[in-house]
Amino acid sequence: MKIEIKQTKDFRELAELNEAVQNWHHANYPDDFKPFENHEVERAFEKMIRSENFIAFIAKHKDKAIGYLLAYVKKRPDSAFQYEKTILYIDQVAVIEEYQKNGIGEKLIKEAYHLADRMQIQEIQLDFWQGNELAERFFSKNGFGFFNYKMKRQL
Ligand SMILES: CC(C)(COP(=O)(O)OP(=O)(O)OC[C@H]1O[C@@H](n2cnc3c(N)ncnc32)[C@H](O)[C@@H]1OP(=O)(O)O)[C@@H](O)C(=O)NCCC(=O)NCCS
Repeated sequence: MKIEIKQTKDFRELAELNEAVQNWHHANYPDDFKPFENHEVERAFEKMIRSENFIAFIAKHKDKAIGYLLAYVKKRPDSAFQYEKTILYIDQVAVIEEYQKNGIGEKLIKEAYHLADRMQIQEIQLDFWQGNELAERFFSKNGFGFFNYKMKRQL
């Protein structure tokens, strides 16, 4: 399968691809995540993509948008407690269901590695929500490891 991956600023295409991810989060964490609403999501992507700090890649098969990765550069200033650090943060990565398990997710992650390399950034971080087993397996397989745990107690 010939897959083309390109950097993009097409916030409409990105918003469309976000629907499945947003709906998974809404179905599993309805108190935190809103249901997908195209207009609102388009506006959010437009704002992010206009910011210099955000970079998006889109995967296409025969001109059909089938996956994306959205990342941004995060700078931690030096403090009394921690050293200064610049990381590339993968905010979202998704491949539409019928194209999953074809190595497209891996290709998108590799774009993020190349980007970090070009920017001389040595660390990539990301997160996913508890229960997203596809994501956990996928990220672990692609070399990511846990380094910080969040806990909560509902009152
Ligand atoms: C996580 C996600 C991006 C992975 O995308 P993907 O394109 O399926 O990823 P890959 O194809 O590179 O790898 C997925 C699996 O397919 C396998 N695979 C890759 N190419 C394959 C091929 N040609 N034949 C069979 N299996 C293959 C990989 O080994 C991997 O195996 P796993 O079952 O151990 O995980 C995708 O599942 C997704 O969009 N999920 C919903 C959104 C989401 O949760 N995103 C993360 C949080 S923002």
